[in-house]
Amino acid sequence: MDQLTGKTAVVTGAGSGMGRAFARRLAAAGMNLVLADITEGPLKEAVNEAVAAGVKAIGVRTDVSDAASMDALAAAAFGAFDRVNVVCNNAGVAGTFMGSGGRVDTADWAWVLGVNLWGVIHGHRVFLPHLLEHGDGHIVNTSSMAGHLPAHSAYAASKWAVVGITEGLYLQLQQAGSTVGVSCLCPGWVATNIAASIRERPEAVAPGPHLELSAEDEARYEFVTELVRSGLPPEHVADMVHDAIVENKFWIFPHPDFVQSLEPRFRSVLAGTNPEPRLLG
Ligand SMILES: NC(=O)c1ccc[n+]([C@@H]2O[C@H](COP(=O)([O-])OP(=O)(O)OC[C@H]3O[C@@H](n4cnc5c(N)ncnc54)[C@H](O)[C@@H]3O)[C@@H](O)[C@H]2O)c1
Repeated sequence: MDQLTGKTAVVTGAGSGMGRAFARRLAAAGMNLVLADITEGPLKEAVNEAVAAGVKAIGVRTDVSDAASMDALAAAAFGAFDRVNVVCNNAGVAGTFMGSGGRVDTADWAWVLGVNLWGVIHGHRVFLPHLLEHGDGHIVNTSSMAGHLPAHSAYAASKWAVVGITEGLYLQLQQAGSTVGVSCLCPGWVATNIAASIRERPEAVAPGPHLELSAEDEARYEFVTELVRSGLPPEHVADMVHDAIVENKFWIFPHPDFVQSLEPRFRSVLAGTNPEPRLLG
């Protein structure tokens, strides 16, 4: 898509972090916005910000893991705008804990896969047929470097799956000769509120006591929180997302050094040698 002005973008997880930055960047490019988030206050702020920037915008409180909620998001988008062009399936959660010695409880698997993977699946289900029909569209799915580096966590599982279905979708659309573009965003650490979600599993998702964190888990949580805090500004990632849509680039890797760390893994896979010890995300 070389021209975005006056067209419409849907952004999930738009209340905070990268989604909020995508909304600002796409509004700066003159796009009208359909903003979705499960948290109402920040969502309203994001909509007000977009309107103040001079574009049309609506906010729809949405749980991306819920089929009916995503149906309602699509209905609201098509009700407000004739066409949707860009869809950023971005909402995500880290999980109660990013996997410690294979110890992830069932509610965490359901919550993290529900938001991070089913959110993308529903995003394809409700918007892709419309994009394919008019042909002037682009889908950006937010995965992670955790989608390329192994770890026994619900988060890594969800992000590997997003890499797989996004690359698969790209290849299918190429084969069909579609003009709809697809990008897979794989950031390393970005300075957002994602670390807070480690502790904020909604009661509705998992009633009852949360997973007890050991002292080792707590130390790991602090470590990860610090890495996130010192990460790239979300605005930098938003610029890359904007450029990928305009230039029709599939991979969006905001951390080139992180990508280099994939090489030893691929070498070991090709040689059939056992995995080398390394820091797990
Ligand atoms: N921050 C990082 O270091 C990092 C790195 C790689 C990938 N990511 C991915 O980037 C994406 C955006 O996360 P972020 O870092 O901006 O975090 P963030 O917590 O700042 O923003 C995520 C937003 O998603 C919303 N959300 C959570 N559950 C939802 C649901 N069920 N339905 C709708 N909205 C929901 C939250 O309310 C929040 O506004 C996520 O998919 C995350 O996994 C983040």
